[in-house]
Amino acid sequence: MEVSSKNTVDNTAESKDIEDGKHNGDQPTRRDFMVLAASAVACVGAVAASVPFIRSWSPDAGVAASGSTEVDITNMKPGDTLTVMWRGQPVFVTRRTEKQIKEAEDVSLTALIDPEPDADRVHAGKEEWLVVIAVCTHLGCVPIMGKGDYDGALCPCHGSQYDSSGRVRRGPAPKNLPVPPYAFIGSNKIKIG
Ligand code: FES
Repeated sequence: MEVSSKNTVDNTAESKDIEDGKHNGDQPTRRDFMVLAASAVACVGAVAASVPFIRSWSPDAGVAASGSTEVDITNMKPGDTLTVMWRGQPVFVTRRTEKQIKEAEDVSLTALIDPEPDADRVHAGKEEWLVVIAVCTHLGCVPIMGKGDYDGALCPCHGSQYDSSGRVRRGPAPKNLPVPPYAFIGSNKIKIG
């Protein structure tokens, strides 16, 4: 048949062009395929070679677990709280007012659910700074600093309240907010962890 005969002739000519590496209009030639194949192999090689470098840029689990966080406290005024992240947890850094410090120091330990002197929760000579992990010891909600009846924090989930030393004053939370390890770096930074 005429149609199939013409197709046979055209295909044969095209095959020859491909063999010769010639372009045939918009149709890819054998040379095009070879160039593409070589490029693909080169790309795979480049990605494979880069994997060790990418891995070396990412902190592994051990580094993340031992990580520290530095907090610039230069512009904090009495009564201010910064919330920062340390090891995946929120931490409150509070510059306490004179009133908050006095309240925290004056409360009787017998009035506390989890008795702990304020002096054991702050650094000597740096009593205006309170650093606590902002995770409610009931079921893990993040309390709101500046709320509640004790000049500290209120947990919105079930109503626990913490005082200006981060000590639980009203349940259901059973324990004080934990104090993470931290240190002062010069006069304007706190390093947590
Ligand atoms: S999680 Fe805070 S009171 Fe329940």
